[in-house]
Amino acid sequence: MKNSRRARAMEKGSRYGRKEKESAWQCAEVDALYRLAAAGLRVPQPYGFFEGVLLMEMVADADGDAAPRLADVDLMSEQAVEYHRMLIGQVVRMLCAGLVHGDLSEFNILISANGPVIIDLPQAVDAAGNNHAGRMLERDVENLANYLGQFAPELRGTDYGKEIWNLYEAGMLTPETPLTGRVEQSTELADVDAILKEIEDVRAEALRRQERLKAQDSGP
Ligand SMILES: Nc1ncnc2c1ncn2[C@@H]1O[C@H](COP(=O)(O)OP(=O)(O)OP(=O)(O)O)[C@@H](O)[C@H]1O
Ligand SMILES: [Mg+2]
Repeated sequence: MKNSRRARAMEKGSRYGRKEKESAWQCAEVDALYRLAAAGLRVPQPYGFFEGVLLMEMVADADGDAAPRLADVDLMSEQAVEYHRMLIGQVVRMLCAGLVHGDLSEFNILISANGPVIIDLPQAVDAAGNNHAGRMLERDVENLANYLGQFAPELRGTDYGKEIWNLYEAGMLTPETPLTGRVEQSTELADVDAILKEIEDVRAEALRRQERLKAQDSGP
């Protein structure tokens, strides 16, 4: 388990204020790890602190070595699509547990023997209590599409972020909710124009009919 921020915290831990800040930061990560494990996500199990450094389960590859980062592996297009599907599933589960990662990228995803594992959670935000949570979720999901889209270009046009956030805000998101990767474009403005024109047409037609009837009544 290499973890440089936590290792740095130990080196610089002599100053009290700094240490306090680091431990609040680390507690946020431990909280997030427990919350996500309880929600059924595959995240490293935290073991506790050792001299200000958070110890956690090592995510391993098939040989039992520390798993590579997503950024370090070469992917076939089907594999990229599969990882994307699994990661979107994890992002959804995370949101259902009330959290947005906020720094999701190919550097904070490890490829374990059983597929991708999301790590590096100290900045995860409370989805309901943070005004930027929606934008952060969209950016996280966009990062996935852009990175994995290099291997599977069809992922680049997808818009799972907005779709997931809309469902979450409507109270309709569960880990089983089917997703399309597309968001219906709002046609509200165009519709208002069309409806106004329709009303205008109907009114004009009614007026013309009235004029015709009047003309017939007063006819010869
Ligand atoms: N549980 C783990 N199992 C295996 N490797 C890990 C684990 N946690 C972290 N690592 C390795 O350590 C690296 C840094 O961890 P992490 O992303 O959590 O910290 P960071 O603060 O972002 O550090 P950095 O600035 O180096 O990215 C990861 O990219 C990964 O290679
Ligand atoms: Mg990191």
